[in-house]
Amino acid sequence: MDFSCSKSSSLMVSLLLVLLLNGSSSQPSDLVRTICPRTINNILCLQIFKSDPHSETADVKGLARIAIDAGEASANQTLNTLGSLFNSTPASSLKDVYQTCVRNYETAISKLETAKNLLSSPNYKSASGLSTDATTNISSCDTSFILLPEPYGSAVLSFLDLTRKSSNLARIIEIILVDFLV
Ligand SMILES: *[C@@H]1O[C@H](CO)[C@@H](O)[C@H](O)[C@H]1NC(C)=O
Ligand SMILES: *[C@@H]1O[C@H](CO)[C@@H](O)[C@H](O)[C@H]1NC(C)=O
Repeated sequence: MDFSCSKSSSLMVSLLLVLLLNGSSSQPSDLVRTICPRTINNILCLQIFKSDPHSETADVKGLARIAIDAGEASANQTLNTLGSLFNSTPASSLKDVYQTCVRNYETAISKLETAKNLLSSPNYKSASGLSTDATTNISSCDTSFILLPEPYGSAVLSFLDLTRKSSNLARIIEIILVDFLV
């Protein structure tokens, strides 16, 4: 009796452990599995949803909110870095690019925020146009770097990783809102 009791309680412990371990890394829902391969970066897309357990049961609007939060956080990080690069760079065409980028990122972040708020309103469909505009502003920043005459220094190169992530996230948000919001 004692034996079977301790055996079953250790079985319970193992079961609990399995449940806990599974719970901490959420499985992509069918909707996430449908959306992510359609975006510019499937891996990044799966990653943002995996890090938020709400994505398991979220509808398109819910997934859009999760993606926008990730996009805003990334754009915010890029914007902060842009600010310090701008401040530490002497007058030059590079400094001008930083300034253009600061404006574009500020605009993009505010458009994403407006888009997120619109999702809870009857006018939720206008969120897609705003997300397209946000992508345009973030891409303008990428383009202004490409057009720079000078070779890039290492500070710029590591910064380009940040803009690439922000840019990919903006495009992921845009696909969700433009192609999947009905
Ligand atoms: C953006 O960054 C600023 C400065 O680091 C911080 O105070 C703010 O909370 C951040 N906002 C978001 C939405 O992450
Ligand atoms: C942001 O993009 C829009 C086009 O969608 C453009 O008209 C506007 O000038 C851009 N904003 C900045 C600060 O460059």
